[in-house]
Amino acid sequence: MSYGTFETTYAADDERYDRIPYRRTGRSGLDLPAFSFGLWQKFGTDYAFETQREIILHAFDLGITHFDNADRYGPPHRAAQQNFGKVLAKDLASYRDEIILSTKAGNAIGPSPYLKGGSRKSLLTSLDHSLRDFGTDHVDIFYSHSPDLSTPLEETVGALVSAVEQGKALYVGVSNYLPDRAHEAAVLLADAGVPLLIHQPRYSIFDRRIEQNGLLELADRDGFGLIVYSPLAQGLLTDKYLETIPDGARAVNSTFLKPDAITDTYRQRAAELNKLAEARGQSLAQLALQWVLRNPTVTSALVGASSTWQLDHNVKALDFPPFTDEELALIDEHGVHGTGLNL
Ligand SMILES: NC(=O)c1ccc[n+]([C@@H]2O[C@H](COP(=O)([O-])OP(=O)(O)OC[C@H]3O[C@@H](n4cnc5c(N)ncnc54)[C@H](OP(=O)(O)O)[C@@H]3O)[C@@H](O)[C@H]2O)c1
Repeated sequence: MSYGTFETTYAADDERYDRIPYRRTGRSGLDLPAFSFGLWQKFGTDYAFETQREIILHAFDLGITHFDNADRYGPPHRAAQQNFGKVLAKDLASYRDEIILSTKAGNAIGPSPYLKGGSRKSLLTSLDHSLRDFGTDHVDIFYSHSPDLSTPLEETVGALVSAVEQGKALYVGVSNYLPDRAHEAAVLLADAGVPLLIHQPRYSIFDRRIEQNGLLELADRDGFGLIVYSPLAQGLLTDKYLETIPDGARAVNSTFLKPDAITDTYRQRAAELNKLAEARGQSLAQLALQWVLRNPTVTSALVGASSTWQLDHNVKALDFPPFTDEELALIDEHGVHGTGLNL
C-alpha cells in the first residue's frame, strides 16, 4: 500500500471488532472501546520507535480504537504525539475514520505563560501544535488537561467550544477536575451547545478518590462518560513488583513511579490481591482492570503498555465471571486508597 511518499505493509486484522466490548460514553452517541491506549510513558524519543509502532498497531488489531495523547507526553514534550503521527501517516492513514484520537492541553510544557494553564491562548495554541504533530485536521476529543483555578472557567470552556466550532475537535472533555468544577464546566458547555463528553480522572483499586468525592454519581447525573487513567496504578496492580523490581520496569525508569513506592505494605496488599486473582483464575492485572470496568459509569479503562504481550494479556480482563460480594469486600480490605501513590 502507498500513502503519498510512505509505504506500509500493515493491514488491520479483519477480526479486530470481535475482541473487546465497546461502551457508550455517558449520554452521547459515541462508543469507546472498554480499553483505551495512552502514550504517556515509553513513547518519547528515549524508546525505540519500531517498538512503539508495533504496540500501536497491535492495539488497533485488538480493537482498541481510542488513542490518548497530550502535548506533554514525551520526552521531550510533544514527542509521543509526533511518534503517533508518524504511525498514523505511514500505517493507519486509511483507518483514520475508525480511530478516536484524543489530546489534552493546559499542563505546562514550557516556561512561556502561553505554554501552560487554561487560557484561550494556551489551549488553542496547543491544539494547533497537536494537529501539526498528528498531521490531521482535527482530533476527536480535546481536553482541558487539569483545572486552572487562576483562569476563569468561562475562558477555558470558551476555548473548548471554539475548538469544536472551528472543526478542530469533535468532542470535548476535562481531566483531573474535582466534581464541583466538572459540574460547572458541564453546565457552561451545555449552555454553549457543546456537551461535556467525558471526564478523565485517575481510578484504580489503590486510588478510590472518585468513589469518595462523588464524581461517579455526578457523571451519571450530568450524563458524561468517565475514562479512568492508570487503572493498574502504573504497574503496581500487576504481579511484576511482588518479589523484585525488574529491569526495564516503570519503577526503574520513570520520574512518575519511584522504587520507594514498592514498600513492604504495598507488597503485602498486592500479594493478597494477587492471591484472590489466582483463586479466580486470572492475573492481578486482569482483576484490576475488570474491577474498574465493573461499574457501567466507567466507559473505558485507559491503559499503558510497554509490550504487545501486556496488551494481549490485559484485554482478556473481561473474560472472567463477575465479582461476588465477598470478593469485592476482600478487594476493599486490601485495596487501600493511597497504596504506593504518595498521596
Ligand atoms: N489525564 C492525566 O492527567 C493522565 C495522567 C496519567 C496518565 N494518563 C493517561 O493514562 C494512560 C495510562 O496510564 P498508565 O500508563 O499509568 O496506566 P496503567 O495501565 O496503570 O500502567 C501501565 C503500565 O503498567 C505496566 N503493565 C501493563 N500491563 C502489565 C502487565 N500485564 N504485567 C506487568 N506490567 C504491566 C507497564 O509498565 P512497564 O512495563 O513499563 O513497567 C505499563 O506501561 C497514559 O498513557 C495517559 O494516556 C492521563
